[in-house]
Amino acid sequence: MGYFLASPVRRLWYTPGSLVAAHLKPGMTVLEPGPGMGFFTIEMARLVGAGGRVVAVDIERKMLDVLMRRAAKAGVADRIDARACAPDSMGLSGLAGRVDFVFVCAVVHELPNQEMFFRETAQAMKPGAALLLVEPSGHVSEHEFDQELKLAGAAGLKIERQVTIRRSHAALLKKS
Ligand SMILES: C[S@@+](CC[C@H](N)C(=O)[O-])C[C@H]1O[C@@H](n2cnc3c(N)ncnc32)[C@H](O)[C@@H]1O
Repeated sequence: MGYFLASPVRRLWYTPGSLVAAHLKPGMTVLEPGPGMGFFTIEMARLVGAGGRVVAVDIERKMLDVLMRRAAKAGVADRIDARACAPDSMGLSGLAGRVDFVFVCAVVHELPNQEMFFRETAQAMKPGAALLLVEPSGHVSEHEFDQELKLAGAAGLKIERQVTIRRSHAALLKKS
């Protein structure tokens, strides 16, 4: 699955930039939980520029190693902070109230503790910051996606709008 998600075939559904570019500006701090091999990370690192950073947090050290090799080839490794986390915490130390944008794609349904995920992520976000939540519609039912949105709401992340993305459920959430 990891290799497929980083493969060119996925670009037939959408390009990384088509999902994230409208939310990013140079200098921003972006959080990407579960980046996998970096399909979106590398494009986000380009878009935030040399003065920005992307904090990529994954439970699989191997994923982060591949991601950083790909980022080095793309010339953007210097602005990626790759962190391996534990199952019981996202490992977001030093980020409280600092994150401008969160992008999380095809990850939340895999998490054993979604309540903890939304709580820790919301704490890392600036007031008014946005989170784009994307889940594959082939793996996640509408009901399950609604449950995720409820947990996000309980953590202070309110739905700004639903977003249309091929083969996905998606919503843009805002921290009040
Ligand atoms: C299906 S992949 C999605 C990768 C990427 N977001 C994408 O869309 O290309 C799910 C990713 O979430 C990571 N993951 C799973 N459980 C996690 C956890 N508890 N904390 C952080 N990352 C986790 C996996 O290691 C994997 O890299």
